[in-house]
Amino acid sequence: MAYAAFRSIGAYVPEKILTNEELSKMVDTSDEWITKRTGIKERRIAAKDEKTSDMGVEAAKIALQRSGLDAQDIDLVICGTISPDYFCMPSTATVITGKLGMKNATAFDISAACTGFIYSLSVAKAFIESGMNKNVLIIGAEKLSAITDFTDRGTCILFGDGAGAAVISATNNKDEAIIDIHTGADGSYADLLMTPNGGTGSAHDALDKEAAGCYMQMKGNETFKVAVRTLTKDVKEILAVNNIETSSIKHFVPHQANLRIIKAVGEALNLKDEQVVLTVEKYGNTSGASIPMAINDIYESGKLQAGELMLLDAFGGGLTWGSALVPFSPFK
Ligand code: UT7
Repeated sequence: MAYAAFRSIGAYVPEKILTNEELSKMVDTSDEWITKRTGIKERRIAAKDEKTSDMGVEAAKIALQRSGLDAQDIDLVICGTISPDYFCMPSTATVITGKLGMKNATAFDISAACTGFIYSLSVAKAFIESGMNKNVLIIGAEKLSAITDFTDRGTCILFGDGAGAAVISATNNKDEAIIDIHTGADGSYADLLMTPNGGTGSAHDALDKEAAGCYMQMKGNETFKVAVRTLTKDVKEILAVNNIETSSIKHFVPHQANLRIIKAVGEALNLKDEQVVLTVEKYGNTSGASIPMAINDIYESGKLQAGELMLLDAFGGGLTWGSALVPFSPFK
């Protein structure tokens, strides 16, 4: 049987930085409030003509180069995004294959909000283990600034833009394989975090995003409580099922939604500070891009070494959630 190994990581962040100070001139908020309630100090904002696919392509190029594979070696491209280039089609994943000149890949998007990267990872693992694919490129890319209402202080302080990508490949060596992935969803919480209109479920004028309700809306406090409860339960379950102690986790890489959520989950698991990967301060919440951007951060700072075990954990609109036990296994 083939197993799936996490071979490489890459990420891209846009140049423009939007600080809390700047936001406090746009809405009734302050650096002090944002820092205390979220841990965020700044976030990146894509240029006007910079698309989600452009950011995904930059992240993918780095992940490919670090894997040693060529774009033509990739059998499948999955892009987890809630801010695709186009409303219905083509998918952002197919746009990315075009920009990378890929000729041999199947491509599709996954819509699982902040859990998009873990959902993509689970599909990559399944396709590889079934023998259907050998090399899968998974991408989390978001231009959330395009679907953020910058007059709503409850959301605009949270979100940012960016992309991350990873190459997942078949291996016969079980020691370097992804150990387990759990995913879940509960649509009864759909109204906690949504872009209410703009789809075929409602009458809308697609050209007027504000009137169409195409911006993200969130019941922040309720979402916060469900997030802490669900993430803690999910992570405890995946560790127990696989008989793994928290002390064996080298890097806990949670979705970077809010420092207080991350701290609450970390404390419930008795994780030490040095085990917890944090990028929320500089990038804010980049939804499906946040986990690969955070993995890239520890990779580029020399903290992520071959063989080390990562625990990924995410929660987002849908509601969706997921966790994964992933050794970092670059090609030798
Ligand atoms: O990524 C997907 C999942 N997303 C999440 O997990 C996000 C979850 N939610 C959160 O991160 C937090 O709920 C927020 C950061 C969005 C809000 O923090 P909170 O501690 O839950 O605040 P709250 O919504 O309970 O609001 C407390 C107060 C309210 O004022 P009153 O009613 O007490 O007078 C809000 O109007 O804070 C006010 N408030 C603000 N004040 C200054 C809300 N947003 C702001 C703001 N600046 N930006």
